[in-house]
Amino acid sequence: MGLEFAFIGGIMSKLQPSAQSSASSDSTSPQLWWQKGIIYQIYPRSFADSNEDGVGDLNGIIRHLDYLQWLGVDALWLSPVYPSPMADFGYDISNYTDIDPLFGTLADFDKLVKEARARNLHLVMDFVPNHTSDQHPWFKESRSSRDSPRRDWYLWKDAKPDGSPPNNWLSMFGGSAWEWDEKTGQYYYHGFLKEQPDLNWRNPEVVKAMSDVLRFWLERGVDGFRVDVLWHIIKDDQWRDNPPNPSFDPATEPNYNSLEPVYSTDRPEVHEITMELRRVIESYGPDKFVIGEVYLPLEKLMAYYGPKADGAHMPYNFLLALIDWQSSTIMQAVGQYEALLPEGAWPNWVLGNHDKPRIASRIKPHQVRGAQLLLLTLRGTPTMYYGDELGMHDEAIAPTQVQDPFEKREPGKGNGRDPERTPMRWNQEPGAGFTSSETPWLPIGDNIEVNVASEKDDPDSILNMVQQLIAIRRKYPVLQSGSYDALPASPPVIAFTRTLQSESLHIVINLGDSVTLYPMGRVQAKCIFSTDSARDLDLVLMNELALAPGEGVILTIEGEPAD
Ligand code: GLC
Repeated sequence: MGLEFAFIGGIMSKLQPSAQSSASSDSTSPQLWWQKGIIYQIYPRSFADSNEDGVGDLNGIIRHLDYLQWLGVDALWLSPVYPSPMADFGYDISNYTDIDPLFGTLADFDKLVKEARARNLHLVMDFVPNHTSDQHPWFKESRSSRDSPRRDWYLWKDAKPDGSPPNNWLSMFGGSAWEWDEKTGQYYYHGFLKEQPDLNWRNPEVVKAMSDVLRFWLERGVDGFRVDVLWHIIKDDQWRDNPPNPSFDPATEPNYNSLEPVYSTDRPEVHEITMELRRVIESYGPDKFVIGEVYLPLEKLMAYYGPKADGAHMPYNFLLALIDWQSSTIMQAVGQYEALLPEGAWPNWVLGNHDKPRIASRIKPHQVRGAQLLLLTLRGTPTMYYGDELGMHDEAIAPTQVQDPFEKREPGKGNGRDPERTPMRWNQEPGAGFTSSETPWLPIGDNIEVNVASEKDDPDSILNMVQQLIAIRRKYPVLQSGSYDALPASPPVIAFTRTLQSESLHIVINLGDSVTLYPMGRVQAKCIFSTDSARDLDLVLMNELALAPGEGVILTIEGEPAD
């Protein structure tokens, strides 16, 4: 299941009563590139290996920029490429202002920025401010002595009188979040692995050092940041114990979920920090932007937009990556998200990422194309996860192949994230065109016909469908900035409109596995896109729209027929 973060139940249970329809109040406001555009997440270890070591790298990404331009996305978000001991595959950083030799050099990075820009592709970096690696010189200095000038850069506490940790807080990856340091006789806090000590964001020197990190990459031309675990950054100033979670199920959930992390995460002071990060980023231009990784129930998530829409430009909205794939659940979740968005807040949508099962493995095969249609037609910025455009699945990982520390620490609970991180498929050759090494860092997996080369040649492939859909999204400004309104629909159908001034598009998706009739009234409609290439796209008079199993369409209503 990937990281669950103890919030899935919370997301739905704490929602307001269903808002069946809601509209954007800002549909006429000018749109910035990241509002109109599509973000494509690259997990660099798994995208393309240019030097035959079985691990992807920056030059591999550069080789495939033409593909990304052809696909039609607007920005690339790179998961971390900084120097790292790789205890958490790059989310444990030992130097924030360089590139790990595994991925290349700063010169390769500069080339990537230049080549991306030449193709109108923006670059978004992962920014990991909550914790460093225990191999970062800051931490080495901090742990060297209690008098170290950097002691207070991290979270050090005395043991309780009986020698036990200062409080009951848990690491998200299992076990206590406190690690005893023999040499200096104190515990340090780590919300993730012990190799990932948390920084002290109440220390102004830390805030300044991390702001300088942002400046370093902004100077090199990056367009924005995805801020890792933003809701964890600052902790309770009184270090109070977290309360137990009464609905915890130890058989299926990570141990972390046994407590409600109310004191270790989502503290009110986080918003001041987010605003400060934004100020730094925006000082490089009004179109630079910040995305926050925040897994919280919707009302709490909305606070991350900031009190005056001056926090994160987009706190990630993971609803579609988490909820049951039922038409009524999806319609309700979308309506509630729209209704709760504060004034001036821009929406966004995500189907999956490097921490969550792939969408094609979460839902039924006939629903996969409709999921892409939903992602690319809802109001707001979509983030696509590499390989989802091919319909890539989670791959089976044998116990001997496990890489993810989460799976290693709590095996067999389905926490492992390797299945969704397997190599991108470029062709049908043994290394899938990802690598010519015989030992890719994760297995290539089955269904090798799922690959770019084969799908490009097949007019009915999901890849060609996604590429055409992106082209339609670009062609119709209403899909970029129009308001959203739910349409009445019964299961298994999802239906809504997008409207901009006099232009309106209907999106109707059948989640069912048989033909489903959707009542349209007596209208003349033109289908401008279908997930089913068998559909006739002509102007038709319709009372009822017959949707094939899993089919989704975009319609323009040309008005009522003349009698
Ligand atoms: C975020 C990342 C995840 C990582 C964790 C700790 O949730 O997405 O991959 O393990 O932070 O940095």
